[in-house]
Amino acid sequence: MEDTPAQLVSNAMIEKRYALITGASSGLGAEFAQQLAALGHPLILVARREDKLAALASTLHEQYGAAVEVIAADLSQPDTPQKIAATCSTSGWQVDWLINNAGVAGPDLLKDRDWSQQQAFYQLMMLSVAEMCHLFIPSMVERGQGRVINIASVAARVPRSGGCNYGPAKAYVVALSEELHLSVAGQGVNVSALCPGFTHTEFHETAGLMDMKNKMAKWLWYEAKVVVCDGINGVEDGKSVVVSGRLYRWLDPIFQSVWTRRFLRIKARPD
Ligand SMILES: NC(=O)c1ccc[n+]([C@@H]2O[C@H](COP(=O)([O-])OP(=O)(O)OC[C@H]3O[C@@H](n4cnc5c(N)ncnc54)[C@H](OP(=O)(O)O)[C@@H]3O)[C@@H](O)[C@H]2O)c1
Repeated sequence: MEDTPAQLVSNAMIEKRYALITGASSGLGAEFAQQLAALGHPLILVARREDKLAALASTLHEQYGAAVEVIAADLSQPDTPQKIAATCSTSGWQVDWLINNAGVAGPDLLKDRDWSQQQAFYQLMMLSVAEMCHLFIPSMVERGQGRVINIASVAARVPRSGGCNYGPAKAYVVALSEELHLSVAGQGVNVSALCPGFTHTEFHETAGLMDMKNKMAKWLWYEAKVVVCDGINGVEDGKSVVVSGRLYRWLDPIFQSVWTRRFLRIKARPD
């Protein structure tokens, strides 16, 4: 059956709306790629493991016929966001969805004594997120269309003991997203911080936290597809902060309360 003129217009618009996803080689990023390809978006996948990105790109192309571009890049390097933007610009890829998702558990601020490792962590978790927003949001505003999801965490919502890096870095991502949300409101661009709780991905294995994960109650854990679906619906609904999962949506007001917050003594990591 032939497309109606309205469908042709809408297909042409969708064709231009690239979704750029950082940290797309596994976990939440790969799931974002899956769900956004299913919605008809062409994709730009970014991470360090090029083989994983290429395999995902070919699967998604076969499954959905989506155009999928791959950029192998390390976002802990300060010049990476500029290089990504330059590649998009010279290739004529218009980014209308930006998913700042790449992230790791990172070093312990007090116990891990190599400052260059700490700096690379902040570059990845905070500066690269800010610079990607700086590079891509103004042109979204000019076009009057855009969606930005910055992946934060429930860890951003409550101070915990130990680590002193991950929660504060994610709290910055929440604060940044809230201000961006207010700054571009009413201009066709929605910005959300997505705060997942514990989610089944490669995150804990990469961080060497599988013992901790295996000892935890199963009901604290969510599947990546639930978190990503909450994120996409939340940004479409224009929410500045999206806490994912019923359990964590219920806990969040308790974490935010000045009354309960004084008494919470949550450990960031096992000793
Ligand atoms: N899983 C959870 O329980 C949980 C909870 C709350 C928030 N989060 C957040 O969710 C986001 C996604 O994590 P995930 O759970 O999906 O973990 P994951 O499966 O380990 O995925 C992390 C992704 O980030 C990429 N990445 C890591 N360092 C990078 C670097 N220097 N440059 C470019 N890409 C890099 C990894 O790709 P390469 O290794 O190929 O570079 C990978 O694609 C992170 O921001 C994380 O903090 C996770």
